[in-house]
Amino acid sequence: MSIQIPRGTQDILPGQSDIWQLIEQKARDLCKKYQYREIRTPIFEHTELFTRSVGDSTDIVQKEMYTFEDRGERSLTLRPEGTASAVRSFVENKMFGHANQPVKLYYMGPMFRYERPQAGRYRQFVQFGVEALGSADPAIDAEVISLAVMLYRELGLKSLKVVINSLGDKDSRKAHRDALVNHFQPRIGEFCADCQNRLRTNPLRILDCKQDRDHELMETAPSILDFLNEDSREYFLKVQKYLTDLGISFEVDANLVRGLDYYYHTAFEIMSEAEGFGAITTLCGGGRYNGLVQEIGGPETPGIGFALSIERLIAALEAEKVELPIAQGIDCYLVYLGDEAKDYTVGLLHELRAAGFSAERDYLDRKIKGQFKAADRSHAKFVAVLGDDELQTNKINLKNMETGEQTEISLDSLIDKLKELLN
Ligand code: HAM
Repeated sequence: MSIQIPRGTQDILPGQSDIWQLIEQKARDLCKKYQYREIRTPIFEHTELFTRSVGDSTDIVQKEMYTFEDRGERSLTLRPEGTASAVRSFVENKMFGHANQPVKLYYMGPMFRYERPQAGRYRQFVQFGVEALGSADPAIDAEVISLAVMLYRELGLKSLKVVINSLGDKDSRKAHRDALVNHFQPRIGEFCADCQNRLRTNPLRILDCKQDRDHELMETAPSILDFLNEDSREYFLKVQKYLTDLGISFEVDANLVRGLDYYYHTAFEIMSEAEGFGAITTLCGGGRYNGLVQEIGGPETPGIGFALSIERLIAALEAEKVELPIAQGIDCYLVYLGDEAKDYTVGLLHELRAAGFSAERDYLDRKIKGQFKAADRSHAKFVAVLGDDELQTNKINLKNMETGEQTEISLDSLIDKLKELLN
């Protein structure tokens, strides 16, 4: 039996990869406008980085990490997300000391989670994410959310919903935690084994449980918004004001708790509301993680960011039937006739490419008709036909494939002529 691709992964084939490149370029261009700069971190990190940051009691750490021991008996993990690595690098490279604050970073690359594969859920997926470290100004929360919204809008998505919540500061979270324990404790026996553990380790996670989500205590659970202290409430209102100023409509959802432990204050997700989009509608998730830098060994530094996967973005584009403007076709296809002409096109093709044109020729010894068919398949704008006779007289035949017009020009002028015509 032939070897197949691992479950939950996919090949991005030519054609499809054009769409990926366009999206990646849009993301990079947008980061340039918003002044986020790229950071590239390793695909694997010390396991402890993720247990400490993402959180011991999260599904990601408990069930989904690709963890292995290397030959030096170190426990390493394929990164399940990008924030922990960005923060680790921020601390390790002392970016908190840079003159330019806040430090605004972005990343794009594969992440790995051992999840049950289904539409929109892969075991290897590519995240584009940004992290702004060093500012506790609610304006940067709004900026981060707007960057994600802008990417989706610029690519042509319309059916989007922005959902926000506040998890409050440490004190608010503590008060809410106590209320959750009081709420669930008397009937915790009716919940799954995971939730029974969560009551002790991290009661907030109960609200995120997929198994117990229909239990009646879920609906009546105390809302974090009722436990926000004055500062947290003011912060949250400011974020909402700025989002409104930016023309971004949103819903507040007190049940949005996110699947990672490091959040304080703002948490948000962007969903697709497109008809026919799969069961998993979250396109993008993020929030504020004041406290994380300290957890990783750096000085107290506020931070906020988001991540979105290109896979789900493409699924949303498909659901909304958005056609991306993928440039098709090459500038010139060289057709040869005769052995000398054939040899000559090797050098000529190189010259065309060196002059900046996309160009191609036949490598399968096709007859002239077959070469023209190949030119058609490559959507060539021009076909240049060179026969042994033309070569003798320093001529070449240039055909405009759109108009069908043909002209004989001097071989030496081919590059100049193409420059003129393609401009
Ligand atoms: P997350 O919610 O775990 O957050 O993931 C963010 C996004 O990654 C999701 O909204 C989804 O688009 C995509 N994603 C997650 N898992 C999968 C999967 N199995 N297949 C396809 N796409 C997936 C984080 O990762 C945080 N680091 C976000 C963040 C950055 N918070 C602050 N800064």
